[in-house]
Amino acid sequence: MRKRIVIANLKLGLSLKETENLTEEIIKELSQEKKLKNLEIVICPSFPAIPRVYDLIKVSPVPISLGAQNVFWEEKGAYTGEVSVLMLKELEVSYVIIGHSERREYLKESEEMINKKVKVALAHNLIPIVCVGETLEERERSQKEKVISRQINEAFKDIEFNKNNKIIVAYEPVWVIGSGQAITAEEAENTGFFLRGKLTNLFPPDFIEKNIKVIYGGSVDSKNIRDFAKKNIDGFLIGSASLKAVEFCQIIKILSEI
Ligand code: PGA
Repeated sequence: MRKRIVIANLKLGLSLKETENLTEEIIKELSQEKKLKNLEIVICPSFPAIPRVYDLIKVSPVPISLGAQNVFWEEKGAYTGEVSVLMLKELEVSYVIIGHSERREYLKESEEMINKKVKVALAHNLIPIVCVGETLEERERSQKEKVISRQINEAFKDIEFNKNNKIIVAYEPVWVIGSGQAITAEEAENTGFFLRGKLTNLFPPDFIEKNIKVIYGGSVDSKNIRDFAKKNIDGFLIGSASLKAVEFCQIIKILSEI
């Protein structure tokens, strides 16, 4: 199995000080663990907290990478309020969440914007975490496969990539996010296989095998992670359960035992 990735999406859940405390607690809790080699851990704080998290993880005995929750598609210019890929690189950010359903919904991010963001991330060797997933309404109309196929095709439309690029695709059913009730591990695994199949229309098989992870997100917690851990899923994008160090570390510990 590929090395699994566990990504904390802190959203707008914590203050700067709380983010610092969380990071410190995670590092402390995990530094006792010997078996984390099969896992990669990423924390995605809000923009202003990035330098604070960076200062802590750069001296951490436990390897933790840094991710951002968004990026703008232009590198520079008159774009009030935006943050560029170049700034993220200066901050030593390695990952960036793109196309999260909350941004699609509240910020009206279109497939075209998402595609431009994926392109700029790949051009600068930042690893995009591209989120796809159906709403409850789409699911009830039996459109899940159609919707996530379209989101994949649009996100990676006319993409240029090199052999060093890495990509993460996160299947996150919109209706499950933050609900406390995840989908079954079986469905998460099967949807991952389905998405891998769709990716074969866009990338060569060995690139998909070596450079792309397909992960699951949506109400993952320390109670249901054992079920997911048994399945062939490359990793997890974790929201609510990442806001408490004990809960987040419990998930990591369970995954490290599998
Ligand atoms: P959740 O969020 O774990 O709170 O469901 C996941 C996400 O939105 O990435």
